[in-house]
Amino acid sequence: MFVTFEGLDGSGKTTQAELLAEALRGEGHSVIATREPGGTPLGEEVRRLLLEGMEMSAWAEAALFAAARAELVERVIARALEAGHDVVSDRYVDSSLAYQGHARDLGIDEVYELNRVATRGLLPDVTFVLEVDPDTSAARVGKSPDRIEREGRDFRQRVLDGYRIVARKYPNRVLLLDGTRPAAELHEEIRGRLREHL
Ligand code: TYD
Repeated sequence: MFVTFEGLDGSGKTTQAELLAEALRGEGHSVIATREPGGTPLGEEVRRLLLEGMEMSAWAEAALFAAARAELVERVIARALEAGHDVVSDRYVDSSLAYQGHARDLGIDEVYELNRVATRGLLPDVTFVLEVDPDTSAARVGKSPDRIEREGRDFRQRVLDGYRIVARKYPNRVLLLDGTRPAAELHEEIRGRLREHL
């Protein structure tokens, strides 16, 4: 099973990804937890370029995220799934669809196409998008925002709109959840939805 968590920065997706990985391990599953961008040595280098590096054009940004993702799929995710492990990822292709496809206006279908090739079509079984409004996101981001977090409120609103469009496009895979609910409650809901889904 391949499960991904998505949302704005500060949406609580990292916490939920960790809680789910722990819970599955507690039930005896073998779980590989990963995060994007990053998760491989090359991916961590690309992450640094993307988040701390120079300004870049939108397609260069999309292509770098896709490059890090290609490496992660090839070296970690596909191997883990083939070996029968579960994979829980903090962000995956839907981040690129929402941030680069919609918020940067490259087109969700175009960015999907780039990623379809880079990931050899590997999509999650289930994706949870934790919705928080742009102001909640900004308040939770803290003191040292990265290059993408420094974008303003309008950008974050477009990212959120992008996730909603993606959820409508892939209703069988992508589930929207209210990210402002207490973490323990959300975790229970996620467990329930996963049981229903699989
Ligand atoms: P993230 O790791 O969630 O940030 P943090 O370590 O601060 O929690 O993601 C880093 C940033 O990269 C985030 O602002 C979202 C952005 N991003 C994209 O724009 N496109 C992508 O495909 C991915 C994976 C992330």
